[in-house]
Amino acid sequence: MSKVINKTLIIGLGLIGGSLAKALRSNRRFGQIIGYDRDPDETSVGIELGVIDIAAESLADAVSEADLVVLAVPVKAMETVLVDIAPFIAEDTLITDVGSTKANVVAAAKRVFKTIPTGFVPGHPIAGSEKSGVAAADEGLFDKHKVILTPLAESSSEAVNVFADLWESTGAEVLVMDVEKHDEVLAATSHLPHMLAFSLVDTLAQEQDHNTDIFRYAAGGFRDFTRIAGSDPTMWHDICLANKDALLSQLDRYITGLGRLRTAIECSDSETMLGTFTRARAAREHFSRILSGTAYSQDMSNQLVTFRAQPGGSVSGKIRVPGDKSISHRSIMLGSLADGVTEVSGFLEGEDSLATLQSFRDMGVVIEGPVDGNVTIYGVGLNGLQAPPGPLYVGNSGTSMRLLSGLLAAQQFDTELTGDASLTKRPMGRVADPLRLMGAEIETAENGRPPLKIKGGQPLKGIHYDMPMASAQVKSCLLLAGLYAEGETSVTEPAPTRDHTERMLTGFGYPVKQEGAQAAVSPGGQLHATKIDVPADISSATFFMVAAAIAPGSDLTLEHVGINPTRIGIINILRLMGANLELLNEREVGGEPVADIRIQYAPLKGIHIPEDQVPLAIDEFPALFVAAACAEGTTIVSGAEELRVKESDRIQSMVDGLKTLGVDIEGTPDGAIIQGGTIGGGVVESHDDHRIAMSFCVASLRATDTITINDCANVATSFPGFVELAKSAGIQVEKEEG
Ligand code: S3P
Repeated sequence: MSKVINKTLIIGLGLIGGSLAKALRSNRRFGQIIGYDRDPDETSVGIELGVIDIAAESLADAVSEADLVVLAVPVKAMETVLVDIAPFIAEDTLITDVGSTKANVVAAAKRVFKTIPTGFVPGHPIAGSEKSGVAAADEGLFDKHKVILTPLAESSSEAVNVFADLWESTGAEVLVMDVEKHDEVLAATSHLPHMLAFSLVDTLAQEQDHNTDIFRYAAGGFRDFTRIAGSDPTMWHDICLANKDALLSQLDRYITGLGRLRTAIECSDSETMLGTFTRARAAREHFSRILSGTAYSQDMSNQLVTFRAQPGGSVSGKIRVPGDKSISHRSIMLGSLADGVTEVSGFLEGEDSLATLQSFRDMGVVIEGPVDGNVTIYGVGLNGLQAPPGPLYVGNSGTSMRLLSGLLAAQQFDTELTGDASLTKRPMGRVADPLRLMGAEIETAENGRPPLKIKGGQPLKGIHYDMPMASAQVKSCLLLAGLYAEGETSVTEPAPTRDHTERMLTGFGYPVKQEGAQAAVSPGGQLHATKIDVPADISSATFFMVAAAIAPGSDLTLEHVGINPTRIGIINILRLMGANLELLNEREVGGEPVADIRIQYAPLKGIHIPEDQVPLAIDEFPALFVAAACAEGTTIVSGAEELRVKESDRIQSMVDGLKTLGVDIEGTPDGAIIQGGTIGGGVVESHDDHRIAMSFCVASLRATDTITINDCANVATSFPGFVELAKSAGIQVEKEEG
């Protein structure tokens, strides 16, 4: 704070003014706190309760002496107070207010001052309580609440900084927006709901004959919805007049929406009714998650989750791990683009696939669920997506961002794709570059990193693309763009990668031409809704396969695991290392091969992992490093440089962690050399990478001491319920939160 504040004057010692005075008086950062209220009794109480240092007797003198003035009077009284104080405001006096509407306060200030002083920065703390008066002053009232500052063109940046500092010193989070936006936002989020509550209660109360009965029977829903109808009528009358225009336009939007719902009910239009309710419920869940800080809309790395795994043990029994992440993502994408209703079962309810689901809801697709892994998608057809209301946030999910970018490059509307801190470091040039060759307009941040800004309405033309890396995400991205491009789009891969997109497109009745290493699509087809049974994810099963392979006495069966030939590198590699692994009950479910996998302990030996297996086991390497550390002899991983650009640099993360645990391991640019031996205990970092966290948890089975794994919140991206399932199988791990 550059300007030194010796005297702060609070005009109006109500709940807000009193609470601010008390908070500032206790942090002592804004000089003496002088209080003025037109009711002298309030100032006396303020002194008695220690809310203010000094009670001002003359408003004129107090304003002349103050460095900073806060107008904490009702919005309606603002202009009169401004008239009273204007002659005593010095050139460098800082002034703010706490009014809940802003355009009218600014208009009043313009009338009074003619030229707005540079020290004037309107503000609005979004905090309150049903109590009022200085006696209710609470110095914690603003803690963790939002305060909106609405600086004007005339406001100096120094003044804005001082007020931001002032509110932050009370524990508040400061947001800055312009006056119009503030009034619009408040009209929608506060003023409109109050109007609905007042109007509903009033309407029901006017049913003279029945109202007592209605109120007697009114249960939770009524109580919850109408709580705010108990607010101060005069204040709300004033707010309606003060924010008339913005409130009217929100009321109009609402009345239109209600009219639509009325018609839907009248016509028994289930799709519109379900659409409205489902979207609303999803938005409400999204909002609750934001409030409770548990959403994929949050940077999960902010949450502290630690795994503590005790040494020893074995795994046994029959378990089913959650649904395949890659297939879950694609089921939402293709189901949304299909004509008709797609039913998905076994859907992975992890943060990553939920981020994809939310993105499609944001683009107007009605999706019910997930409930116990069941999702119903009301497809909108290839050209039915709508512009989302804001940037699509996909959290930690590289698959969402890369696949969506292909699809979005072909839409008629602009979009922006954003993600969490880890995703923001990952390369997107690998999809943006070929999409640009197809005619897409995509802006990335520096070095091709997210966010991606994708321009709509760009005609795409098919290309042939020789992928420089073996990536199913890049391949899928281009095939999805190819559904909309002119002519054929074909992609050749340097090594086989997962082919779920090709299989699922075929399952939806969209022709895909596959010849050797090349897959191609042409436009003009249609996706027909279907049923999708998502098998258990072999990448999640991997942690338990390795667990059983390294822990003597283990005998574990993993049920209904997807064993698509492009994903079975882990089975091939573990077998080469000597694992005792059987595939039982092999079958095909919805175009994907599935089996139960039984794995019993057998000593492992070190090998040079064949490079052709790397893309087929690309997500399994963190766990394979642990298997290698438990094998007899040396294991060499090579040709796996892609591991360096996953959710973390997985070579480095595993090398660092295993070294901490006393393992003899050396990283190389494209892999590592690992000597089998003893695993000790210690504290390792997951680097916010789900698979690193789970791999070290599995290592505990052969450790000699406790392994503590930091930053495990992201395990929820791919494997909700991991700790519970691991414990049920025999791994002695506990999750600590906070
Ligand atoms: C995935 C492809 C792989 C994999 C990722 C999921 C997919 O990424 O690592 O977890 O669903 O297409 P790359 O295509 O970048 O190798």
